[in-house]
Amino acid sequence: MELNDDHWTAWTELAWRARKRAYAPYSGFAVGAVVVSAEGMPFAGCNVENLSFGLTMCAERVAVGNLVASLGRVELVAVVVVADTEAPVSPCGACRQVLAEFGRPMIRLVGRGGRWEQFSMEQLLPRPSTGILGRE
Ligand code: THU
Repeated sequence: MELNDDHWTAWTELAWRARKRAYAPYSGFAVGAVVVSAEGMPFAGCNVENLSFGLTMCAERVAVGNLVASLGRVELVAVVVVADTEAPVSPCGACRQVLAEFGRPMIRLVGRGGRWEQFSMEQLLPRPSTGILGRE
């Protein structure tokens, strides 16, 4: 799967659209995410908050759940996360670990006006599985 500019643009557009569906009555902070499988299939997510606060699901993890439930075992190659922030939004630690479970995707973080920064999975979470269940 080639990660070219046109693909990133389309996936980012999907993420903005998913963000509109965010359920964020407590924080007022809407996030959209798209995760892309090795075959180039994009799946979207938005954050889904809860009155308990602790049960809130981030957009990234909702997108991963959507992908796995739809395709089964998957390998992630690209992730886009969008929010209306001055600096591009940064995934929480839990989401970084969940993304790393399914591959070593390139991750594009997008803020207001389309400003973006891109990171490798390794940059966002070095050594995500070393030592756990004997994995390298
Ligand atoms: N949130 C996400 O969905 N993804 C991120 O990368 C950052 C934070 C959500 C969780 C919560 O609903 C709200 O944003 C405020 O933290």
